[in-house]
Amino acid sequence: MTESMDSKDHNWGNLGLIVLTTLLIAKIASALLFRRSDKRLPPTVKSWPPLLGGLLKFLKGPVVMLREEYGKLGSVFTVNLLHKKITFLIGPEVSAHFFKASESDLSQQEIYRFNVPTFGPGVVFDVDYSVRQEQFRFFTESLRVNKLKGYVDQMVAEAEDYFSKWADSGVVDLKYELEHLIILTASRCLLGREVRDKLFVDVSALFHDLDNGMLPVSVLFPYLPIPAHRRRDQARRKLAEVFTNIICSRKETGKSENDMLQCFIESKYKDGRQTTEGEVTGLLIAALFAGQHTSSITSVWTGSYLMKYKQFQSAVLDEQKNLLKKHGDKVDHDILSEMDVLYRCIKEALRLHPPLIMLMRTSHSDFSVKTREGKEYDIPKGHIVATSPAFANRLPHVFKDPDQYDPDRFAPGREEDKVAGAFSYISFGGGRHGCLGEPFAYLQIKAIWSHLLRNFELELDSPFPDIDWNAMVVGVKGNVMVRYKRRKLSVD
Ligand code: HEM
Repeated sequence: MTESMDSKDHNWGNLGLIVLTTLLIAKIASALLFRRSDKRLPPTVKSWPPLLGGLLKFLKGPVVMLREEYGKLGSVFTVNLLHKKITFLIGPEVSAHFFKASESDLSQQEIYRFNVPTFGPGVVFDVDYSVRQEQFRFFTESLRVNKLKGYVDQMVAEAEDYFSKWADSGVVDLKYELEHLIILTASRCLLGREVRDKLFVDVSALFHDLDNGMLPVSVLFPYLPIPAHRRRDQARRKLAEVFTNIICSRKETGKSENDMLQCFIESKYKDGRQTTEGEVTGLLIAALFAGQHTSSITSVWTGSYLMKYKQFQSAVLDEQKNLLKKHGDKVDHDILSEMDVLYRCIKEALRLHPPLIMLMRTSHSDFSVKTREGKEYDIPKGHIVATSPAFANRLPHVFKDPDQYDPDRFAPGREEDKVAGAFSYISFGGGRHGCLGEPFAYLQIKAIWSHLLRNFELELDSPFPDIDWNAMVVGVKGNVMVRYKRRKLSVD
């Protein structure tokens, strides 16, 4: 009895010892492991007060914050924004995963969901990735070269018509003029002839309400019951009516046009299902939101730089003279595609002033990055992951004299956008979600500036514009006054 009690005690003692030892080992192991992975976490931005400090820094302006913290912490760091952690990956060495990762690893949906009330139900960020991919295929098909060729004829016609209404000389606000021209062109190429010819005033007023319904507060609270959101929702409903009528009438009459609307009407999902009127409306709204402000802002910056730096304007004019000699007055898709000097001037304006200054994803799996100094960091799932075209496009180890406007940096022999590797130049994003409208945007801006430079002498009449960091799509602050005089560019 005593012996068995002793042996039981002994057994309990052993068990206790084993449990204790196991717990101790587990604790040490987890401490070691934790310390190791802790060590590899990106550095965190120091901020005060503890919970709000990160947010306050961020609100000062993300690019101001990035400039400060990149200098202190390097190319990978985390900011605590209330209950969220945003990890920035800055520069081509660390951002490849951001651009290449699959949707299941890094997704856009949660971040960009605030667009749903604007774009409407059943499209883009309101649908699963597999459906979204199909809808982006519709975009790709509607922007193929054979389609672009037709759009370019319309862009050229719109520019000719618009500027023919200018007097022989005068002063205009370039920002207002180009915004207006671009919405007219977008109406024709994307929304279709019916809107451009008959409904332009009504439809642009509705788009105006949609646009004004996208405020910084809408990003966090897209359904907040405020007047701007109510007007947005009403405009969205009316746009659905307008487009449903147009689509039904095209379907009934069998009339077909060369525009994005027609492409979306004819698009089919893999299972053979046709797009609905609601989906077509939503996709058109998404296209206009993706392409309108971005292109008009870039046109204004391009013109401002060409007026400021006469040497680059002369190089563009020489190129135009050569093309005039070769093709006469004609401008079409293939001729615009020969405008390499103008292309580099636009690309450089866009390097310095990308309208989308921050790109973001949500991470659903852990991943690691290695900086160019050789430091490795583990980024845990659950973080928001971000990169910034506005900051990364000006990294001095990628672009020489990065704050200088120098379109020749993209010329053969230098190609600074390529030498440091893919994802050096990210104004159009890149990789899996790179911009689908890039060729359309270049063609449109080239059509505008080749026309303006061939037909007008232009001078900035107000100081060189500042950046409006407060806008959702970052653009030009205030008016951009330009003094112009009609001329015909002579070939010799
Ligand atoms: C200068 C003009 C433009 C700029 C700077 C620009 C910039 C961008 C950027 C940075 C992205 C990537 C967003 C991200 O990774 O989160 C993007 C995506 C996209 N852009 Fe553009 N864009 C321009 C014009 C256009 C135009 C004209 C269209 C259509 C007509 C368009 C359609 C799209 C679409 C559909 C996507 C989504 C691609 C995807 O997620 O797979 N963009 N754009």
